[in-house]
Amino acid sequence: MAVLDTGGQYCHLIARKIRELGVYSEIRPSETRAAELRGVRGIVISGGPASVYEPGAPQVDPGIFALGCPVLGLCYGHQTIAWHLGGEVQRGEKGEYGLAWLETEGRSALFEGAGGRQQIWMSHRDSVTRVPPGFAVLGSTDTCAVAAMGDEARRIYGLQFHPEVVHTANGKQILANFLFRVCGCEVDWDPRRQSERIREEIRRTAAGRNVFFFVSGGVDSTVAFTLCLRALGEERVRALYVDTGLMRAGETEFVRNVFDSLGRGVFAVEDARERFLAALEGVRDPEQKRRIIGEMFVEVQEQILASGHYLEGEWILGQGTIYPDTIESGGTAKADVIKTHHNRVSGIQKLIEENRIVEPLHTLYKDEVRELGRELGLPEELLERHPFPGPGLAIRCLCEDAARPVERLEEGWLAPLHSVGVQGDSRSYRPVLILDGDPQETGLHERAAEAINRESRINRAVAVVASHAPVERMTTSPAALCRTRLERLRRADWIVREEAHRAGFDREVWQFPVILVPLGTPERPDSVVLRPVDSVDGMTARAVALPAELKEELGAKLLAEEGICAVFLDLTHKPPGTIEWE
Ligand code: XMP
Repeated sequence: MAVLDTGGQYCHLIARKIRELGVYSEIRPSETRAAELRGVRGIVISGGPASVYEPGAPQVDPGIFALGCPVLGLCYGHQTIAWHLGGEVQRGEKGEYGLAWLETEGRSALFEGAGGRQQIWMSHRDSVTRVPPGFAVLGSTDTCAVAAMGDEARRIYGLQFHPEVVHTANGKQILANFLFRVCGCEVDWDPRRQSERIREEIRRTAAGRNVFFFVSGGVDSTVAFTLCLRALGEERVRALYVDTGLMRAGETEFVRNVFDSLGRGVFAVEDARERFLAALEGVRDPEQKRRIIGEMFVEVQEQILASGHYLEGEWILGQGTIYPDTIESGGTAKADVIKTHHNRVSGIQKLIEENRIVEPLHTLYKDEVRELGRELGLPEELLERHPFPGPGLAIRCLCEDAARPVERLEEGWLAPLHSVGVQGDSRSYRPVLILDGDPQETGLHERAAEAINRESRINRAVAVVASHAPVERMTTSPAALCRTRLERLRRADWIVREEAHRAGFDREVWQFPVILVPLGTPERPDSVVLRPVDSVDGMTARAVALPAELKEELGAKLLAEEGICAVFLDLTHKPPGTIEWE
């Protein structure tokens, strides 16, 4: 199944849903020539942010409609079909975003077992106002007359709504109908059954050579490594972990244990803690932190590659690259410092040019990698880990250059503590609002959102969980990255991780960063911010409330720590806040 990408954030979701239904799907650029798609069982055209009638809007090759295979257009894809085949698309008077009710009309293979009145998820302003010749209206909502259309004879369908999101009640059934009833697909994809195929591919690519990995302790590089190990044997595969000194408590031991249990003598640690800490000592600026860490990674890797120690003779490099990383438009547009720098390492570039690279997971999604990891017997503790940023605790240890008091505002206190946010399409670096009110209070997250919209000086809002001092006595202090503060943060992070795990709360959130901020009193100069968030891919996120008991527990435990003045809960969704504070 081919999914044509017209720039929609839902494109990967469509491809994943199709795979979940047991059919292999690949994302292709929207303008892929029809000739290159000959032979596919069906084509889905994704949604996207553009308007079909605007110059420069993503196009599809009209030849795809003559291939004879079924086509399903979703949202922008639906409008593209109408536009190309002689229908009409117009800008609506008002948009339709969120839940809506669809009323289906007549009978169609697409709505078999999924007809009638049903909840759907919409996100559009343009609408199809006249269907192309040969098409029938298959469904409508109060504000959208052509919410579904189809030409049953040519097997071309369009849906204005998004069947790939969970909020569309019958979405899965509708996609399954397209795959199995319309396209006649057979079940041909099961991530758990890929392991043998991938091992064969590794043996072919390696062609007698050995494989070396830089591993991070993350799911992707560990699964990729394990596959190579199983394909080639212990003698031919090695993993090196660079200890930056910026990782969470117990991380190096955890990674060592995992790899030692996989094979004897396959794992080594490069202790670069002193080098990283020395380079970061005294640094405050978020961008400078990232730059220094990125450059140090490059330096360490270059030296290792150049030493010939690990890559002597017939060695190639293994990497844990997954499918969204290999799709140009895909996944996170976020510049990932560590990964970007990985790619810039000239030693690695040279290996790529010489075809000395193996990427066993390049066709898989993250959840599929987890499935595969499970099949390989990797510990659940590793597979279900929260994502952790490459630059580590450094971007959670906030710094300021001066002592400044807090300032009273109508709904709380403005703390002159700068953190990164994302407003519009650009990053902001602004103070934080400490809202009056208990973190448990209902409606506090909404109040936070309103305050951020109203007060342009801030990009975040927090509430006080527990404190040694009243907020009005707190000031920022000049603080940079140093061993003492990193150690303070590491302890706080450890306490939160333990308690959240005990309460089962870590399974309810997608990620739970703990941030150290230089706000407090002279005796206790720092405070801790808790940032539990729910997300699918980190691109957007919802701030999550803390269960009352966990809140009490964390407040008491963290305030007992040396140097900690207060504990806050971040109430900011992304946008306008980012997940990390930097
Ligand atoms: P933000 O702060 O941009 O983060 O909302 C979104 C997600 O990306 C993670 N993140 C990183 N991951 N290297 C990584 O591997 C990085 O440099 C990096 N910066 C942010 C962050 O933890 C969150 O999950």
